Amino acid sequence: MKKKWWQEAIVYEIYCKSFCDSNGDGIGDLPGVISKLPVLKELGINCIWFTPIYTSPQVDNGYDVADYRNIDPAYGTLDDFRELLNKAHSMGIRVIMDMVLNHSSDEHEWFKESRKSKDNPYRNYYIWQPPKPDGSEPNNWGSYFREGNGSAWEFDEQTGEYYLHQYSIKMPDLNWEYEPLRREIYDMLHWWLDMGVDGFRLDIFTRFKKPAGFPDTKKEPDVLLDRNGFVVDTSMCTHVEGIHELLHEMYTEVFGPRDAMTVGEGAGVTSENALDYVCASREEVDMVYHFELANRRRFAIPPEYFRKVQTAWADLMKHNAWPVQYLSNHDSARQVSCYGNDGNYRKRSAKLLATLIHTCPGTPFVYQGEEIGMTNVTYSSIEDHNCCYTLGDYHSMVQLGKSPEEALAAVAPRSRDNARTPYQWNSEENAGFTTGKPWIKVNPRYEEINLEMDRASADSIFAYYRALADMRAEHPAIIDGDLRFWLTDHPDVIMYTRACARETLLVIANYTDNSTPITLPDELSAHAWHRELTNEPSSIPSLQRGGEWMPWEVEVYSMAN
Ligand code: NOJ
Repeated sequence: MKKKWWQEAIVYEIYCKSFCDSNGDGIGDLPGVISKLPVLKELGINCIWFTPIYTSPQVDNGYDVADYRNIDPAYGTLDDFRELLNKAHSMGIRVIMDMVLNHSSDEHEWFKESRKSKDNPYRNYYIWQPPKPDGSEPNNWGSYFREGNGSAWEFDEQTGEYYLHQYSIKMPDLNWEYEPLRREIYDMLHWWLDMGVDGFRLDIFTRFKKPAGFPDTKKEPDVLLDRNGFVVDTSMCTHVEGIHELLHEMYTEVFGPRDAMTVGEGAGVTSENALDYVCASREEVDMVYHFELANRRRFAIPPEYFRKVQTAWADLMKHNAWPVQYLSNHDSARQVSCYGNDGNYRKRSAKLLATLIHTCPGTPFVYQGEEIGMTNVTYSSIEDHNCCYTLGDYHSMVQLGKSPEEALAAVAPRSRDNARTPYQWNSEENAGFTTGKPWIKVNPRYEEINLEMDRASADSIFAYYRALADMRAEHPAIIDGDLRFWLTDHPDVIMYTRACARETLLVIANYTDNSTPITLPDELSAHAWHRELTNEPSSIPSLQRGGEWMPWEVEVYSMAN
């Protein structure tokens, strides 16, 4: 069956604020991105996902939108965006926007109106509840960013009611029950599609619907983090009854008729419930960006777990679902630091991880900097951090008894700031990101890790990503092939085939710091394999060499069927 463009694409995520600053104000911007489009073209990606670039007070770096129909002045103008879109399209690169529709900024005009009076026409755009008889919050829900007293409700003096904010106090939740709001959102999505964008990433789309009556959560407080009895319970507003009707409506009103690609950020979505959202016949979203394999709290992916998750998602393809492949994004720590070895084997392990996400079934999502092996950062002070989660967790821990040093040590390794340090273009000041003062400190490893040096090196990670992109374009088995794992009891080796009518690909990865002997199962060794790619170009193909595989060595072979 003919594939959709997004099934064959490689998506590249741009965190604009940290990508490239063209005007020296320390903040990445759209002209900066435009200047780097040729580099992205060379990398071989076919789609850009912009994290939010709309007008925003930047409490959560743009996930707090104050105007859905404009570009934040720090990033440029709508004209800059139109120019970018045209240039990207002319280079064969599509563009998708991050749509943050669970909440807006409290500086959005809708909220400014909504809070004015109980009978304001915009009152129902947000979720307001009266206090309990004793004046306290409507329930015991905690907010993810743990600001203020930790509650997900904020009292507003003007009308004497609380509004819901699952995230920051400055990010009130929108009321999806209210049809005029939904109409307004659909119009706005059409407006972006009219401009020419190719689709949307839907921020936390599983949480638009809230449970009727806003019941207390029964979950026990987290002793390290939850303050004042307000409990962060991710399940409270996730997959609430009625969510599918909402998403289907959005599909029929917007995405379907416009053939717009959608990828929902699937908090709470697993291979077990994914078909509720992504089975094509349900007409909700095209793909779901799930957290089963990689997420902010995971620091290792044992081969056994990798096999289990990949197999489960590949099985869903029989039901017309299409997986996403990624290992890091703007909400996680750096993949080479979490799942590879960012010391001695940085380059080799970065390539191994890239091989996995480019050759397992689904669409790969590459996060900026991954293609040069950017690593986690270690800041000496909490003052250097910016991420709301990190700050909220830190302050909760300190309030609940940890020392500031202990709290910093606990939050740093998983901080989202690890992924948000400026892109390392070269070894000049500020890694070539800006001529001004960067909005967040540059990772001090930029002198050793940067695009210019990487590309000049014989073992360039960037060049390897390009080779993966070429391989994806040339080998139908990567798109269509059935997935089968081999050596399924091996603690360190990930081996799989992707077989379609024309060919079979074989991927063998030594996912460890140690050399490991690998023997092909008889069924595979009977064939003549041609080596397509390796992260150790100087080596004789390991299948011919026999014996030990080097730490983090990966090879991809093919065979015609
Ligand atoms: C998920 C986004 O990826 C994250 O960056 C943001 O903080 C939350 N949603 C809230 O919008």
